[in-house]
Amino acid sequence: MRVLVIGSGAREHALLLALRRDPGVEALAVAPGNAGTAAIAEQSDVDITSGDEVVKLAKDFGADLVVVGPEVPLVLGVADAVRAAGIACFGPSKEAARIEGAKSFAKDVMDAAGVRTARSEIVDNPARLDAALDRFGPPAGDPAWVVKDDGLAAGKGVVVSADRDAARAHAASLLDSGHPVLLESFLDGPEVSLFCVVDGETVVPLLPAQDFKRVGDGDTGPNTGGMGAYTPLSWLPETVVTAIVDDVVAPVAAELVRRGCPFSGLLYAGLAITSSGPAVVEFNCRFGDPETQAVLPLLRSPFGELLMAAATGELAAQPPLQWRDGAAVAVVVAAENYPGRPRLGDVITGADGPDVLHAGTARREDGSVVSSGGRVLSVVGTGADLAAAREQAYAAIGRIKLPGSHFRTDIGLAAAEGRITL
Ligand code: GLY
Repeated sequence: MRVLVIGSGAREHALLLALRRDPGVEALAVAPGNAGTAAIAEQSDVDITSGDEVVKLAKDFGADLVVVGPEVPLVLGVADAVRAAGIACFGPSKEAARIEGAKSFAKDVMDAAGVRTARSEIVDNPARLDAALDRFGPPAGDPAWVVKDDGLAAGKGVVVSADRDAARAHAASLLDSGHPVLLESFLDGPEVSLFCVVDGETVVPLLPAQDFKRVGDGDTGPNTGGMGAYTPLSWLPETVVTAIVDDVVAPVAAELVRRGCPFSGLLYAGLAITSSGPAVVEFNCRFGDPETQAVLPLLRSPFGELLMAAATGELAAQPPLQWRDGAAVAVVVAAENYPGRPRLGDVITGADGPDVLHAGTARREDGSVVSSGGRVLSVVGTGADLAAAREQAYAAIGRIKLPGSHFRTDIGLAAAEGRITL
């Protein structure tokens, strides 16, 4: 089969590598891609938010399957356009993608499906902000305020702070720019990302992973799109994964079917494992970044076949997924000043190994590779256990040179040292 992947991050690089390992995949294309993906797929620079441009590219390439990586084209309906053109597409419809695109919709679906999530309130009028803030955070007995953009914000619309002034300032700036704000109660406990391939009411979970959203070691500093991830989670009992599938993802998938917008694609449940059990922090309508870079290297089953089965309504007939033993870690190398305005255009060397996935990179005419985004690379290590996987990832990072770059040194460390308990 011929597969076109849409997107340009390390996640899409990981998707392409996993597809390339499937003997049933004969050709790969990517749009727009980056300096790393150019080596493994035909690359075209189209506007990926335009259904017409993506459909034209898919037809020109003769794609049997289009896999849409990022949320923005999904929320804008690109998967609908591809399907309407008669081409199989892995990715939800515009209607179903609202599970990520509008947090208020996600809350409503979870409420109807009886799924545990944080208590929340939407504020769209600045005059109501102060009274709403009093119903959350320390005045309401929570350790911190959780303030989110109701719409898409690339992971950076969230502020979690015990400082009322900081929480208020973030909410006020979102409101000032016309974005409704979601206030939430704080969910305590280790976080889990569980990716599920979903086709209507059929749910197939991948290995659970943990993401590190804060920029600094020890979970300090501002939120980012994700600074690293590891899988599997030795501290998470299999019964909890089963409970997440049965009590969280399956009821939400069924509720979307009931509402006439069945989900087809990757439904990503971000959860906190609280003392009273799993509770949803957020749903996303696509593979997560950087968890995908850690999860997919451990998948042994043919990945293209899995995605095609979901895209064509055949997921229930797929055999159980097979996984490699061991662990995987992905560590993000970010540009200077990320998650603020990153410094771009720095030359990168030592980033051509098979364990280095590219995100914000571009190739200059002179052949050099330069940084072109905030999260520049994801470096992946695999090994017999988490300690070995970490060692491999950090050894590979040691070979990379990117002036001003930074990365977290503690990805997977607490789990490797047995310091995560439920
Ligand atoms: N890992 C966070 C995200 O993909 O949104």
